[in-house]
Amino acid sequence: MSKAASSFACTACGVSYRKWAGRCEACGAWNSIHEEAPLSQGPGAKALTTRGKTVPLTDLATEEPPPPRISSGIGEFDRVLGGGLVPASAILVGGDPGIGKSTLLLQAAASFARGGAKVAYISGEEAAAQVRLRAQRLGLTDAPVRLGTETSLRDILTTLDAERPDLAVIDSIQTMWLDTVEAAPGSVSQVRAAAHELVTFAKRRGVAIVLVGHVTKEGTIAGPRVVEHMVDTVLYFEGERGHQFRILRSVKNRFGPADEIGVFEMTGTGLAEVANPSALFLSARDAPAPGSVVFAGIEGTRPVLTEIQALVAPAPPGSPRRTVVGLDGGRLSTILAVLDARCGIPFTGLDVFLNVAGGLRVNEPAADLAVAAALLSAREDVAIPPDTVFFGEISLSGALRPVSQTENRLKEAQKLGFSQAVVPARSRLGSVPGLKVREMADLTAVVGEMFGAG
Ligand code: TYD
Ligand code: MG
Repeated sequence: MSKAASSFACTACGVSYRKWAGRCEACGAWNSIHEEAPLSQGPGAKALTTRGKTVPLTDLATEEPPPPRISSGIGEFDRVLGGGLVPASAILVGGDPGIGKSTLLLQAAASFARGGAKVAYISGEEAAAQVRLRAQRLGLTDAPVRLGTETSLRDILTTLDAERPDLAVIDSIQTMWLDTVEAAPGSVSQVRAAAHELVTFAKRRGVAIVLVGHVTKEGTIAGPRVVEHMVDTVLYFEGERGHQFRILRSVKNRFGPADEIGVFEMTGTGLAEVANPSALFLSARDAPAPGSVVFAGIEGTRPVLTEIQALVAPAPPGSPRRTVVGLDGGRLSTILAVLDARCGIPFTGLDVFLNVAGGLRVNEPAADLAVAAALLSAREDVAIPPDTVFFGEISLSGALRPVSQTENRLKEAQKLGFSQAVVPARSRLGSVPGLKVREMADLTAVVGEMFGAG
């Protein structure tokens, strides 16, 4: 057997390399590749030709009851978990520093504890006094959460083994270190090894574990990406700094639907649940203005209406700007190209700014039509009637493609007082009373009917 060569890994996506490189070929990140300690191949390691024991195999029809769930009492948090916390599961909560992960998890920990669960909160980032001060500010001091401040994983695992809580929060995985791994805390090897130990512990001892992970651009701290495949559930906490809305999104969930979102508002006394996100995202809407369009979207299992705003202005000489917040920049380029090629409406010489109001990120192709309508409205300086919602995917030919869950989108729009919807032709419309639905086959029809040009 060959001697274990030292290896390198990308901190952004976790791909391994034999030698160092300045840029990761897999994800394109720069300066993200770092050396890591080789996996143990000590004298005890056996060649795979040695026979192991046979593993019992069962058939698919094996009766398996649905996993039991512990409810946190925070509806938005439970929803994202798929209906509550599954015992002995491992959950990663990632997000930018300062976005509110510690706040959310302290609130969730307190809520679980008040519901009767045994909860331990281990902070490797803050002193006990700091965490207590936050608890005081959030009005959580009465909750029976056991608090610990430690970074040595050996000590933490020993403590958890003695305490046997139902849930342990580890804040954050980047501060944890194992004395068996010769690398700095936060390095890929440490984060990977620490996460592995914690996840194994969760399964073996029946303790649900929540790992907090910072997402950072710098290569020195390993991103939570390397941990994603080890855990059962991956949640991302997102939002714009300076905006009060925060969105908890499940990107992977072995025990529930992925892409589910929970919406929160950061207030002076912590995160408050937002039960009706559409109303919140639209509440800040100004008087009808050119460039503003309401998109009827779906986030996870529920419809969410958001405002898409576009601004088009003459560009100084040179290449015009394309600035996008909350939407995919590549998608904007495609829509601009389709408007130019199929409808004869060019945006050359114009700066384009596109924004989803409220700090939500929209990933659905169904937003295409709303984006196109916002761009046209801004460019032609024509306001869209404020009682109208849009949704539909735009194909490269300029045709509008029906999208999923048409009826849910329309119902939400009707519920929030909208009276018109512009949708792709051949959409499977359910009957939604009180809503005038205008079906359009392609972008040219939208341009002709709504902007009187084309
Ligand atoms: P924090 O939970 O420490 O973020 P993270 O753990 O993701 O790094 O939250 C930090 C921010 O939240 C901080 O800028 C202040 C703000 N905040 C409030 O607005 N209200 C509050 O009640 C609390 C506790 C924090
Ligand atoms: Mg924190």
